[in-house]
Amino acid sequence: MKYSDFVNRIAGKGASAWELHNKADAESRINDDVIMLSIGDPEFDTPAPIVAKAIERLNAGDTHYTGVSGRETLKLAIARDHLRLAGRRVGSENVVVLAGAQNALLATSMCIAEPGDEIVTFDPMYATYEATIKASGAELRPVRLDAATGFRLDRETLAAAITPRTRAIFLTNPHNPTGVVATRDEVQMVADLARAHDLWIVSDEVYADLLFDGEHVAMASLDGIAERTVTIGSLSKSRNMPGWRVGWAVGPAELIAHQANFALCMLYGLPGFIQDAALVALEECADEPVRLTGIYRQRRDTAVRLLNQVPGLTCTPPQAGMFLMVDVRGTGLSSDEYCRGLYEHTKVAVLDAAGLGAGGDGFFRMSYTTSQEKLTEACARIAEYTNSL
Ligand SMILES: Cc1ncc(COP(=O)(O)O)c(C=O)c1O
Repeated sequence: MKYSDFVNRIAGKGASAWELHNKADAESRINDDVIMLSIGDPEFDTPAPIVAKAIERLNAGDTHYTGVSGRETLKLAIARDHLRLAGRRVGSENVVVLAGAQNALLATSMCIAEPGDEIVTFDPMYATYEATIKASGAELRPVRLDAATGFRLDRETLAAAITPRTRAIFLTNPHNPTGVVATRDEVQMVADLARAHDLWIVSDEVYADLLFDGEHVAMASLDGIAERTVTIGSLSKSRNMPGWRVGWAVGPAELIAHQANFALCMLYGLPGFIQDAALVALEECADEPVRLTGIYRQRRDTAVRLLNQVPGLTCTPPQAGMFLMVDVRGTGLSSDEYCRGLYEHTKVAVLDAAGLGAGGDGFFRMSYTTSQEKLTEACARIAEYTNSL
C-alpha cells in the first residue's frame, strides 16, 4: 500500500541511541539490576490533591466531551501562570490546552510552517523536535551549540542559519539536553533576530520552574515580542504528571484559534476530569516544583561531584531541569561505543547525546530523576566502567 510523504517526515533519526534505551527499558522490567537514566520520567507520584480531584470528577461523571480548546477555568489558570512567569497579562483567547507540551509543539509547527519553509533550532535538541518540525513540511535547520562554550547560544551562528525561507526559531529555555538557561541578553538576542527577520519564536519553557541557577527570562516577557511568540508549557515536569498529558500553548489569539481547529481534528479536547485535576495542579500545588528543585539540585550536585572525579569524564552542572551532559571524549571512545559498553558491563542505561543531534556527539545525557541511592550506585558503576577502559 502507499503512504504519504508525511510518514517519512515523522520517522525519527538517532535510532541507534534510542535502540539502546528501548532494549534497557524492556530488560528493566525483568531485571532489577538495570538502572534507567536514559529518559526523564520523575520517580515521584503526582501530588495527592491532583489525583483526588481526578477521582472525584470521574465519580461525578465528568466523562463527556469537553470544549475543544480547553475549559475556560483551566485556560484562565494557565493565563495567570503566564502572568507569573512572563509578567504579561493574557486572556483565555490566548490559550489552548493540549495533550502535553509535545502536542502543543506539533500543533504550533503545523499552524506556522509548510513545505518550502525552514525552521531553525539548536543542536543538540529535545528528541522529538526533528519530527515535530518536519511534520509541517518545513526543513529543519540545526544551529550547532558549541560544547567548548558550554553550549551557549551564539548570535553569529544563529544569524548565519537564518535565510529568506526561515519561518520560525524553536528555542528550548531552559534547554534539554544541556540544562543551559539563556541569559537575558541571549533571550533578547534571539528576539531581536526574530523581529529583524519577521519570524515566529516557539519558546519551549517546560523546565522554567525547575531552575537551580540563573534567572528564567520568559521570551514573552520582552517588549514587542509577544505577538510573534508562542510559549509552550506543561505539567509533566513541574508537577510529576507526564502520564496525564497536560500541556498548552500561549500566543496571539489568531494563532490560538488555528491551533484550536487543529485540536478539533486531532484531539477533540482533553478529558474533563484531567482538566479539572490540572486546575488543582496549577492553583493548589505551586510548591511542588519548589520541592522538586531542592531534590534535583542535591542529586545534580552529587552526580556532578562523583563523575568529575572520574578520569576521562567531565560534566558541567546543568542550571535547570533533570538532565546532565557528560563529556566522554577523554575516554577515547565515541559516545555510542561508551554508552553501549557501559550498558553491557554495568546495566546503567544513559543516552548517547549524538542521538539528539550532531552537537551532542561525544557526550551522554543522563537524568537524575531516580533516587539519590540509585543515582549514587549508577555513578559508582560508571566510574568502575570508565576506569576499566
Ligand atoms: C524540552 C521539552 N519539551 C517538551 C517535552 C514534552 O513534554 P510533555 O510531557 O508535556 O509532552 C519535553 C519532555 O521531556 C521536553 O524535555
